Amino acid sequence: MCERMPKMLPQIIIGAQWGDEGKGKIVDYLSRDADYIVRFNGGNNAGHTVVYKGEKFPLSLLPSGVLWKKKLLISQGVVINSKVLLKEIDHFTNRKNPPDLTIDPRCNIVMPYHQLLDAATEEAKGAQKVGSLKLGIGYCYEDRNNREGIRFEDFINPKLFKEKLFTIFPKKKKRIESVYNYKVSLTADDIYKESLEYGKRLKKYIGDVSEIVSKNINKKKIIFEGAHGTFLDANFGTYPYTTAVNTISGSVCSYIGFPPQKLDVIGVVKAYTTRVGGGPFPTELYDETGIQIGDKGAEFGTVSKRRRRCGWLDLPMLRLSHRLNGFSYLIITKLDVLSGLSNLKIADYYQIGTKKIFEFPSALDQLKKAKPIYINFRGWTENISSVKKYQALPKNCRDYLEAIEKKLSIPIKYIAVGAERNAIIKK
Ligand code: GDP
Ligand code: IMO
Ligand code: MG
Repeated sequence: MCERMPKMLPQIIIGAQWGDEGKGKIVDYLSRDADYIVRFNGGNNAGHTVVYKGEKFPLSLLPSGVLWKKKLLISQGVVINSKVLLKEIDHFTNRKNPPDLTIDPRCNIVMPYHQLLDAATEEAKGAQKVGSLKLGIGYCYEDRNNREGIRFEDFINPKLFKEKLFTIFPKKKKRIESVYNYKVSLTADDIYKESLEYGKRLKKYIGDVSEIVSKNINKKKIIFEGAHGTFLDANFGTYPYTTAVNTISGSVCSYIGFPPQKLDVIGVVKAYTTRVGGGPFPTELYDETGIQIGDKGAEFGTVSKRRRRCGWLDLPMLRLSHRLNGFSYLIITKLDVLSGLSNLKIADYYQIGTKKIFEFPSALDQLKKAKPIYINFRGWTENISSVKKYQALPKNCRDYLEAIEKKLSIPIKYIAVGAERNAIIKK
């Protein structure tokens, strides 16, 4: 029997580093040709920015295709803060662009006690703190995996929700108060009253996202929007300095509910490296250049507003990222931020003791010893933000890009040179 071939492979957008690579911008750009955009992991600890006609749209839960009025899906891999999601929905509804949204009934809901637990444990960890955004995301996933979560289908059913909440809450309160010595003044009644209103408003969005994706995957153009970044993956990231969910491409099947198949895996790579919060960062810059990149790239958290740590591009990271994700091609973002630097560097490999290590190691003690060995590049002075053609980029700029392609043996298909939707070059 001959299977009907899809007109276009579904695309999955993956952050290849520690998040904030510019996934929001890329999803928005590619959404022009899409029918469905599916956010499949993470919570409102993600911050995806879309900039269109000078206006900034920071999104944490709504898929970044929202400006195009396409079908938006939130799958069960996502944990939902109902208040935050409603605020995002209201924002677009008030602009006469009500999102065409479907939320999977299996999505878990982030509750106020998850946030209290997050704040209490981060404080208790002292110097070892992860740098969590304290939005309760990790604790919501803990409950989900421990089968004590409140799902979207429960949340919109007042009777069921009440039963679950009033059983779970006293245990959480006890844990927060007795383990962390925090006073919890919030009551189950307070939470219930506030949540009822949110549940009532969100109810109309319920729908089986797994089924919708399965039915349309070979007929329609679908974009899967990943949150966070490969090195924040709960298993393959710089554990424990990670988030609490999987971020690598293979997770999309279990976080939506469809079988393995061929996808176009698009790796979004910032032209340098950044990370927010704690944890190892071998190519981190502690000097004036790091500050200059951070200032020019406006490297401040979309959600947390924290200053992001900045460093050079790191090939050992990208080699592992490619092995884990299987990139079809890369999109390089924020290349314009590097304009004006006289010299640039890319880490080719790490020296650990007497060994040359080409792929990012998993053990933190190895990472602490890793000395990046750099390739040097000449910079360029030209402002490249309005360049539209690859050949019009300065030669030194093309040398930088071509070295990445050659070293990784992965093609670069697009290069973003500004935050605006159309500040992008097709290579
Ligand atoms: P995400 O989490 O991967 O979606 O990335 P964020 O939105 O958190 O952070 C990326 C930031 O860089 C946002 O402020 C974007 O508007 C901005 N941005 C994206 N691409 C480019 C680019 O090519 N050049 C510049 N200068 N800014 C960009
Ligand atoms: P996007 O999708 C950058 C980081 C946090 C913290 C660690 C754990 O915008 O790329 P958590 O709140 O999950 O307990 O935080 O993970 N982190 C991110 N850093 N971009 C993100 O998402 C991030 N999501 C989580 O800063 O160090
Ligand atoms: Mg972000």
